Amino acid sequence: MASATATGQRLAGRHILLGITGSIAAYKAAMLCRLWKTAGAEVQVVMTPLAKQFITPLTMATLSKRPILVEFFNPENGAWNSHVSLGEWADCYVIAPATANTLAKMATGVADNLLLTTYLSARCPVVVAPAMDLDMYAHEATQQNLRTLAARGVRIVEPGEGELASGLSGKGRMAEPEEIAEFVGQLLSEPKEEKKTLSGKRMIVTAGATIEAIDPVRFISNHSSGKMGYAIAGELASRGADVTLISGRTALPVPPGVERVDVLSAAEMYEAAVKAFDTADGAVMCAAVADYTPESVSATKLKKGDGEMCIRLRRTRDIAAELGARKGNRLLIGFALETDDEEAHAQSKLEKKNFDFIVLNSLRDAGAGFRGDTNKVTFIDRSGCEELPLLTKREVAARIADRIEGLFAR
Ligand code: PMT
Repeated sequence: MASATATGQRLAGRHILLGITGSIAAYKAAMLCRLWKTAGAEVQVVMTPLAKQFITPLTMATLSKRPILVEFFNPENGAWNSHVSLGEWADCYVIAPATANTLAKMATGVADNLLLTTYLSARCPVVVAPAMDLDMYAHEATQQNLRTLAARGVRIVEPGEGELASGLSGKGRMAEPEEIAEFVGQLLSEPKEEKKTLSGKRMIVTAGATIEAIDPVRFISNHSSGKMGYAIAGELASRGADVTLISGRTALPVPPGVERVDVLSAAEMYEAAVKAFDTADGAVMCAAVADYTPESVSATKLKKGDGEMCIRLRRTRDIAAELGARKGNRLLIGFALETDDEEAHAQSKLEKKNFDFIVLNSLRDAGAGFRGDTNKVTFIDRSGCEELPLLTKREVAARIADRIEGLFAR
């Protein structure tokens, strides 16, 4: 067995989805969860309804520090537990213990509980740790199901031999938690096959908020942190694109392989974007750019008087619309941040700015928009809309990059 430290190094910060099914071995899932949490991983537990008879949701929620998911909907408030988001969140989905019944359902695509629908939606590696009586395990039906799953890429942590809950002795005991944790640690440390699908493409990404000075002390700006734009720049660079990130002031580190151009005002962002677009193959306009700027900037700090103050503002230039006018056969992707009549506003920006598609996010959706690590977006192009579930900004960036790849391949 490898040391806990070695496993920890591999698991720190990783997202593990732990599926628990109705087996006496469910008690071992508690130890497994604890090992992963100690190693710094985030663990989300999904249980089948029967699993609750073997280990309480309270135990697993306490150990994982997250509410346990069992049903498709939360019966208290009707909130939907999205199996798609869970499958996308996870770096690895581990079903331990996996009963003969669940393995059979997985092999045949039955989707009658949240654990199974999540399996069908998972894009990450899936690991199963079978647990059952020796005859059930040896039965040709179970063995056939395991072969089917293995052929589809599901990794199997073989059960051990020994005394079973039935009192019989043989092969069927779920592997020990340390063994499963080590297996998952190894799996997650395997280098990911990097797809350099955007090699040779030069992309611009604008990100963050612009700052419009009023005087040497004060300015007009907005809440953009740059997280969404930086995630896109990082994703495009990881796929081999040559990325210029034109960034307002943020505290974020430059993603690996990205060249950053720092700007402050909308006018500076305009100059940098128009210049870089000359030699680019495409641009993603994620920055929150001021539409208005003070008509004049005071050279000295404005003194307060007794009465009210008016600052006269003038329009800034629309960077995206300018690139849209010069676009030719380059790609141009825009964002729309809305608070009302979202789709209509986004449609109108799609046309006015000549975008290939627009990414709509609404401040009415929980977890969407400024500052957080998640976003809820809808892609809109001239053929229709694709609404995505709440995802991390990293996942949204990957979906945008997938679309960009598709557009380049046309
Ligand atoms: O940075 P985060 O905290 O992660 O937040 C992300 C975000 C909410 C800022 C991002 O997801 C987002 O929605 N960005 C666009 C915000 C915006 O200003 O939207 P808009 O609807 O006002 O602008 C429409 C499009 O025109 C955008 O692509 C914008 O970059 C572009 N624009 C707008 C004005 C202008 N003068 N020049 C532009 O290029």
